[in-house]
Amino acid sequence: MTTIDPTPIVQVRNIKKVYPGGVEALSDISLDFPEGKLTTLLGPSGCGKTTLLKIVAGLLKPSSGDVLVDGRPITGPGPERAFVFQDFALMPWATVIRNAAFGLELAGVNRSEREAVAEKYLNTVGLKGFENKYPHELSGGMRQRVGLARALAVNAKVLLMDEPFSAVDEQTRRKFQEDMLSLVKDEKKTFIFVTHSIEEAVYVSDRIVLLHRRPSRVSQIIEPQIARNVDPEMIRRQPEYLDAVENIWQSLKKFLD
Ligand SMILES: Nc1ncnc2c1ncn2[C@@H]1O[C@H](COP(=O)(O)OP(=O)(O)O)[C@@H](O)[C@H]1O
Ligand SMILES: [Mg+2]
Repeated sequence: MTTIDPTPIVQVRNIKKVYPGGVEALSDISLDFPEGKLTTLLGPSGCGKTTLLKIVAGLLKPSSGDVLVDGRPITGPGPERAFVFQDFALMPWATVIRNAAFGLELAGVNRSEREAVAEKYLNTVGLKGFENKYPHELSGGMRQRVGLARALAVNAKVLLMDEPFSAVDEQTRRKFQEDMLSLVKDEKKTFIFVTHSIEEAVYVSDRIVLLHRRPSRVSQIIEPQIARNVDPEMIRRQPEYLDAVENIWQSLKKFLD
């Protein structure tokens, strides 16, 4: 197996999280997230994936341990990290372009400049022509893309994506997964992706972190050796893809109650 060795942009050091009431969501997690790669947190519902992502985002404080970005401990949210929410988090009263440009609006970027950037990323996510629509005029999958365009527009180095494709139908989901591969290739960012789908994890990830439940800890790290410079349709037919899916299932199965 080849090992991924770029600079770890995000480092999670001995993170423990006990929620008020005593639920120990994370036990002792240490992980590095390299630049230009997509790392997936994979594990059953309740294993602490969202908790870990929120801690990395700075939206939730760990009970102990640190998160370092570029070697410096974080103390809260920061512009270098963008969170793509599971439930879209769009403003219903604002147009698609305003929603996509919202992060830049908050940062004080002037209107023509922020709309130009937002337009570029709406194009990237396949929403050219929808700039002046409102969220209720879009499908779930399209709303999800606006959320992604917003995260890309602020040019964050780290993209935190919590089950971003969970609310869309199977066809749209597959299309998104293909798009993710091009995004990872084209945008030199650190992607931290959460899913409970083994197939999705193997398809999109350079590295998969298997999380074990109660208390949650890292049980295994897998780097699927899949050729990605092929027709995206062919990826799911590779023996390496099918083996990785099966091996992960066997590993996760051991931890089922
Ligand atoms: N705000 C909270 N208060 C108390 N317990 C919580 C809270 N949020 C999550 N938990 C618990 O922490 C554990 C991990 O939750 P979560 O991070 O949402 O898991 P996942 O995203 O993997 O499904 C679960 O047992 C969940 O019930
Ligand atoms: Mg979750």
